[in-house]
Amino acid sequence: MRRNRKKKSRARGLIFTVVLLLIVLYAGFLLRGKISFFFDKIIAGTITENGNDIINEDTPVDGNIDNNMDNDTGTGNDSNSDNPENNPGNQEQNNAGGKGNNISEDGKQPVENVDDILVIVNKKRYLESDYKPVDLVIPNVKFSFDGEHEKKYMRKEAAEALEEFFGQAYEEGIYIFALSGYRSYNTQKWLFENRASKIGEEEANKLIARPGESEHQTGLAMDITSQSVQFDLKEKFGETEEGKWVKDNAHKFGFIIRYTKDKEDITGYNYEPWHIRYVGKEAAREIYNKGIAFEEYFD
Ligand code: DAL
Ligand code: ZN
Repeated sequence: MRRNRKKKSRARGLIFTVVLLLIVLYAGFLLRGKISFFFDKIIAGTITENGNDIINEDTPVDGNIDNNMDNDTGTGNDSNSDNPENNPGNQEQNNAGGKGNNISEDGKQPVENVDDILVIVNKKRYLESDYKPVDLVIPNVKFSFDGEHEKKYMRKEAAEALEEFFGQAYEEGIYIFALSGYRSYNTQKWLFENRASKIGEEEANKLIARPGESEHQTGLAMDITSQSVQFDLKEKFGETEEGKWVKDNAHKFGFIIRYTKDKEDITGYNYEPWHIRYVGKEAAREIYNKGIAFEEYFD
């Protein structure tokens, strides 16, 4: 009698344990994305809190005037050309902003349609040093670092689009992080000069825009990263699950991969699979479908 009761109680205990185990496994299965994202974030936090952990000699290092080190331009390889001299987009875009002809001897001209969502800023079209967008906000997305910083900002319309874009990514289990958005003229100057002092101006300019010539100053660009590239900016990002997802989906939310591999001679910059630029859905779709550079959009 007593032995029977013991057996029954043991069997009940076993069933309870098995059921509990199944529930835990099922909950784990349902929450797998969130759990993984949680750990991603912890790892990201650890890296950025430790400051320069991810910065080494092989990783081009950028920073800003606050001395908060940042890595912004990845480890691109040599571009066969950084001369967008014959790029029609440099001049053609004037019709988008009603700009006059004010081209200097070196072929550069100040951008006049500065607040246009379709503004082109490149090696021939520059923003004045005092230009700063008036509608900068911090998008509600995951960042690869903590704390307040100018690079968290984007223009409002771009920030809202980024939230939708990242929201969709998270829903599909793609864990991407924002790393660098708006940059002031002075921050860009610091970045460029810092790099140029190490590898020379010409090489530096394949990776980093000169002050005034960076899209980051428009507040319409964001560099994104993932755990798979150690929260860094690497060309390898383009081959990761996250990088591929970004490439295939950015246009649906109004973003383009601004510096593609096959357009280095037009953009003047090495391939940057991490740099997305907001241009609005219509332009993004057309640029994506035609496989053209942003400059060519205005042809
Ligand atoms: N890395 C891009 C070209 C920039 O510096 O704006
Ligand atoms: Zn960038």
